[in-house]
Amino acid sequence: MEIKVLKSYKELSSIVADIIEKQLKEHLLSKLALPTGNTPLGMYEELVSRKLDWKSVITFNLDVYLMNPDHPQSYQSYMRKNLFNKVNIYPDHSHFPFRPTEAFEDKIEGSMGIDLCILGIGNNGHIAFNEPGSSFKSRTRVVDLFEQTIKDNSRFFDSIDDVPKQAITMGLGTIMESKKIVLMANGDHKLNILNVAMNGEVTEDVPASILQNHDNVEVYYCD
Ligand code: GLP
Repeated sequence: MEIKVLKSYKELSSIVADIIEKQLKEHLLSKLALPTGNTPLGMYEELVSRKLDWKSVITFNLDVYLMNPDHPQSYQSYMRKNLFNKVNIYPDHSHFPFRPTEAFEDKIEGSMGIDLCILGIGNNGHIAFNEPGSSFKSRTRVVDLFEQTIKDNSRFFDSIDDVPKQAITMGLGTIMESKKIVLMANGDHKLNILNVAMNGEVTEDVPASILQNHDNVEVYYCD
């Protein structure tokens, strides 16, 4: 698979924002799946500055920690701070994975499916919180986070003990039903896993490798 290498983080952010802008302008009733983490921060900033019309847009976040949604490090707080409080999206239109997870899946299905899914990639090849070994058929569910992921994400918390040990994540099967998928990766520490995922064996040991089986995926990287 082609990995499009970009010159800068700014270019990465603006190219992915261009793809979302095009989607929103061409389809007023767009359904997006959205990521968190450091990588998409510039993209959200870029989107906010473009003053797009979000009033008919429906969003589904890819994952949430199992924690108080009002905690400053929850993904709900992240999304409010970086996007939802700054655009004209209806609060009822932004969804986060919840239990019972089948009901979250029903919400996606009831909206007629995800048009555009934006993904990051974890250092161990996870997408959303689908850790290595996740079934390619997996649906939204509660998962235990790997030690490595807890360690990687501890930078956002006061102490590693504060990092939640569990999350609710969209499944790989759920993600793969998106009509279009864009994966963004930033930093040379991600290059090796990106190459393995996009050009190595398609295996449940590398969750992102499932994207090789999707016919509408774009992958962008900058160091
Ligand atoms: C977390 C999120 C993923 C994200 C990954 C990479 O584990 N659950 O959805 O892709 O982090 O984050 P970062 O962009 O901060 O490297």
